[in-house]
Amino acid sequence: MIDNGIDKSRIPKHVAVIMDGNGRWAKQKGKSRIFGHKNGVRAVRDTIEIAAEIGVKFVTLYAFSTENWNRPKDEVSSLMELLVFTINKEIKTLMENDIALQAIGDLKSLPKNCYRELMKAIEKTSSNKRMTLVLALSYSSKWEIMNAVKEIAKQVELKKMTTEDITEENFASYLCTTNIPDPELLIRTSGEHRISNFLLWQIAYSELYFTEKLWPDFRKEDFITAITDFQKRERRFGKTSEQLSNMMQ
Ligand code: IPE
Ligand code: IPE
Ligand code: MG
Repeated sequence: MIDNGIDKSRIPKHVAVIMDGNGRWAKQKGKSRIFGHKNGVRAVRDTIEIAAEIGVKFVTLYAFSTENWNRPKDEVSSLMELLVFTINKEIKTLMENDIALQAIGDLKSLPKNCYRELMKAIEKTSSNKRMTLVLALSYSSKWEIMNAVKEIAKQVELKKMTTEDITEENFASYLCTTNIPDPELLIRTSGEHRISNFLLWQIAYSELYFTEKLWPDFRKEDFITAITDFQKRERRFGKTSEQLSNMMQ
């Protein structure tokens, strides 16, 4: 039952990751920011592999935010190229490991070739069952929530829905993450303690884990450390500790 020091019976179903620190990692080495992004791919691979190995069902990686469009043009285009290149290169591994790819965000705003390759990979891997890898691309939570609100308002306007129909569950079905359970654990690397417009609705009750490690240095054992830390926490959901221990008896 205990493997790598982790309790196999309490593996989070969904782990979300804010992959941060590529630029600083490169700067420390006197290299360009894009060198940092390229070296972040190994950490992506390690994370996906270990997550699948221990039985996590969903991994969401924050790869590019709406706000990241404001970075220097050459960094943005290099990131998009890297994305297409990596998807093409990794699709074989995804198939071999029975991993499905999904994406959330304003995908239509991606460069055409990027969008096309992404859709191809999503389609190709769609019947894979072991785990789902969700890439957050051109994603921001405020954008997602605004979209949901507009869509719901439209439905009400068309009288296909009344305000009484708007429940938490129904609202969540208008988000990009419909059919994806909320993450129990959110990891952010690079020592920054902020959410940066990521999954605001979905992390309402997630456990947050911050590490100083810069993303390109993040390895399987760091993921395991985050999981063991998560497993030590008492998730009370507003109840008292005593109520929880009574429920266990
Ligand atoms: C994360 O690393 C990758 C993306 C946001 C695309 P950064 O590029 O943000 O690296 P730092 O934070 O500048 O070190
Ligand atoms: C968050 O990282 C976005 C991604 C990891 C894709 P940033 O580096 O863009 O976040 P801020 O700007 O430091 O908050
Ligand atoms: Mg950053």
